[in-house]
Amino acid sequence: MKANVDKDTCIGCALCTSICPEVFSMDDDGKSVAITTEVPADLEASTEEARDNCPVSAITAE
Ligand code: F3S
Repeated sequence: MKANVDKDTCIGCALCTSICPEVFSMDDDGKSVAITTEVPADLEASTEEARDNCPVSAITAE
């Protein structure tokens, strides 16, 4: 699975970083960034949870 954040869409709510801090982190612009683009198998479920809960659907994970 690969994870990516569309920074133009992200509003910086930080929900993804609280759901899955192993994959998502806030950058200096206050936007989320995927710190690991190749998601390990044991983090796929929480990555999908973060994607599904992002209020502006800025996360792709597939
Ligand atoms: Fe941004 Fe969505 Fe995360 S708005 S901070 S990508 S939950």
